[in-house]
Amino acid sequence: MSFAAVDVIRTKRDGGVLSDAQIDWVVDAYTKGAVADEQMSALAMAILLRGMTPAEIARWTHAMIASGERLDLSGVSRPTVDKHSTGGVGDKITLPLTPLVAACGAAVPQLSGRGLGHTGGTLDKLEAIPGWRAALSNEEFIAQLSAVGAVICQAGEGLAPADRKLYALRDVTGTVEAIPLIASSIMSKKIAEGTSALVLDVKVGSGAFMKSAADARTLAETMVELGKAHHVTTVALLTDMSTPLGLAVGNGVEVQESLDVLSGGGPADIVELTLALAREMLAAAGIDADPAEALRDGRAMDAWRAMIRAQDGDPDAPLATARETEVVRASRDGHVTAVDAMGIGLAAWRLGAGRARKEDPVSAAAGVLLKAKPGDRVAAGDVLAELRADDAARIPAALPDAEGAFTLADAPVAGRPLVIDRVA
Ligand code: URA
Repeated sequence: MSFAAVDVIRTKRDGGVLSDAQIDWVVDAYTKGAVADEQMSALAMAILLRGMTPAEIARWTHAMIASGERLDLSGVSRPTVDKHSTGGVGDKITLPLTPLVAACGAAVPQLSGRGLGHTGGTLDKLEAIPGWRAALSNEEFIAQLSAVGAVICQAGEGLAPADRKLYALRDVTGTVEAIPLIASSIMSKKIAEGTSALVLDVKVGSGAFMKSAADARTLAETMVELGKAHHVTTVALLTDMSTPLGLAVGNGVEVQESLDVLSGGGPADIVELTLALAREMLAAAGIDADPAEALRDGRAMDAWRAMIRAQDGDPDAPLATARETEVVRASRDGHVTAVDAMGIGLAAWRLGAGRARKEDPVSAAAGVLLKAKPGDRVAAGDVLAELRADDAARIPAALPDAEGAFTLADAPVAGRPLVIDRVA
């Protein structure tokens, strides 16, 4: 059945409900280029302003999955379980988590993305490891999943192509934040990837897409329902993203912090969230194992080394070091009461860790190392953060964001819980 794009746009603009046939047609026609970018932009904005019913979201997701291929992981002998984070600052959890869960007996098919804007991308971080290769064929992906149990790689072109096109359009039309579009974007890729179980880390706070817990809960519930409807066991944790995760924000520096966790150390918040997500993933996969034990006894590190080697990376090669450094110092004595995730994310981005356009290169060495976090007491002149860049000219633009991210006060404030809620 065929429609006029303008009628589909008018229906949603006026608060109506799109039919299954309209949704199937518009997603397919947009993917093939028969619906123009300006028409899809108008429809995306109408969806952002008017919302969608659960039935519309389910059909939209179905149409996005149907736009491409679906991987068949039934030949993988271990239970498959994946994790997806809605994106945050310093969120390197995928790096230690994937080999950790694989070391406990699951197969983790992590199709990841690159960073855009202030949030980092897992592939950009791993590319700080000399030799490491993000692009795998479907055959290589499935073979590594069976042999090693852990793969982090770029999603192939054939998986949910409608989402690739639509996501790029949303990014430049102010329509990323629509809950129906975020939920269908994430879940279409995860369902097409073929995982049997999925744990979602839905971020809440200044450094996240969802600034309020209520919006994050709605997004989590929407995605959990979509997963269940497609027979994927799906659980979501709502986690705090008002403060960067860990102490390192950048590419190589986040790999180094992940290695610290895999060696049995690392910042407490990274270890806490890695273990909380690992426990959820193992439960969803039906595996009875203690991930803390696999971190302690080195099995997770062994799985990391095997995973990096399988993609031509050298796990022993030194990571790039930055040529230029600058520090942010405390202007007064006091308690650190907040370190704003958005400010630190922007500073790292300006230092060269992120990109402004998707074709821009990123620096492996650039980033921010936090020396103080909420709860710490500091004296005037103490170092709060170290900024690293390849190019000294980048530092002046990053300094105000990094300095402005710290709030110092006379009295301490109560710490926030990292895991806010669970939706299943
Ligand atoms: N991540 C995605 O994959 N899609 C979105 O829409 C937002 C975050």
